[in-house]
Amino acid sequence: MIIGVPKEIKAQEYRVGLVPGGVLSLTRQGHEVLLQQGAGEGAGYSDEEYAREGARILPAAADVYSNAELICKVKEPLSEEVAMLRKGQILFCYLHLAPLPDLTRGLLDAGVHGIALETIQTDDGYLPCLMPMSEIAGRMAAQISARLLEREFGGSGVLLSGASGVDPARVVVLGAGCAGANAARVACGMGANVTVLDVDIRKLARLDEVHAGHIRTAVSYEYTVREAVRRADVLIGAVLIPGAAAPKLVSEEMIATMRPGSVVVDISVDQGGCVATCKPTTHANPTYSIHNVVHYCVANMPGAVPRTSTQALTNATLPWLETLASLGIRKSITDCVPLCKGLNVYLPERASRSVISCKPVAEAQGLAHCNVLN
Ligand SMILES: NC(=O)c1ccc[n+]([C@@H]2O[C@H](COP(=O)([O-])OP(=O)(O)OC[C@H]3O[C@@H](n4cnc5c(N)ncnc54)[C@H](O)[C@@H]3O)[C@@H](O)[C@H]2O)c1
Repeated sequence: MIIGVPKEIKAQEYRVGLVPGGVLSLTRQGHEVLLQQGAGEGAGYSDEEYAREGARILPAAADVYSNAELICKVKEPLSEEVAMLRKGQILFCYLHLAPLPDLTRGLLDAGVHGIALETIQTDDGYLPCLMPMSEIAGRMAAQISARLLEREFGGSGVLLSGASGVDPARVVVLGAGCAGANAARVACGMGANVTVLDVDIRKLARLDEVHAGHIRTAVSYEYTVREAVRRADVLIGAVLIPGAAAPKLVSEEMIATMRPGSVVVDISVDQGGCVATCKPTTHANPTYSIHNVVHYCVANMPGAVPRTSTQALTNATLPWLETLASLGIRKSITDCVPLCKGLNVYLPERASRSVISCKPVAEAQGLAHCNVLN
């Protein structure tokens, strides 16, 4: 299969869909890799490194899109990228379609097969391609919130770790999954007083066990969320219902009860956010204040640490990319259940327009869902 790797064009997105080592693995299996010139620069990989492993370097994104059968990238395509997609092409990247009706329509009209990395799911419920980015975003959330608490950034002036004789900051994390557990781990390591809420008691039990009681846990429902938010210096949103828009667990009234200068980092902003006052921001302009609470809602947090993120991403995605490239789209979705779960939009044979093949995306947008295996 001919695999194209374009340069990311989303603001301050420096990751790339594949590291040079991934090119070697794919070309060894008989596939061809086309890389847009300079695509790896932001992550510290030169064209020469890719070429050495067998990639063909093409000057422009349009060259990659018009020649590749599969586009391997990081973030969901922006409108100028959607315009370059071709009927029957496979798109392999994060899509986060539930809160994005315009992009969904664009992909359906383009007639592509869209594999959303975030919904590839193994039998045990594990999300292998979301996990590494969630791990990184979670760890970043703790260090970012520590910085935003500083007066200079509009924060309340509380030091995350406190000081001898002075209480540490109270950090509340919603969601004990991968992002939440990593945020809690780093915040706890920095000395904060951390409480994690989740609806899944097994996840809370695991955190309790691993951190030997150093992290407090609570079951998440309206009352516990409301009380935890009221007392928090830092609120980190890290909930997920796979494929669906994030549930709005924190209302604007709850945010208004936080102390001035408190900080909200809503990691789940890429699924619409779990805090009602959350709206997407960028690395260039990452924060805004509502009710004197500093909000950080960057949807591509790992983009700020592209070297680590690109390596971690390829580690997770390469096995699925190899399967997809070897089997092709139709055999992949019948033979590989995790890839079938990753399929969000699908072009049926002889159809001119794609259909939505991910139920939560269809439900979020009030559109019809098509079970591709029927
Ligand atoms: N902003 C970014 O740059 C970035 C990067 C990576 C991941 N993310 C996002 O972070 C979010 C979390 O991802 P993850 O990999 O940790 O997911 P995960 O599935 O590992 O964890 C999500 C957790 O949310 C919990 N949850 C669901 N409903 C809840 C509720 N009502 N109250 C409390 N907890 C609830 C689940 O039980 C689960 O433990 C996702 O939206 C993901 O897309 C964002």
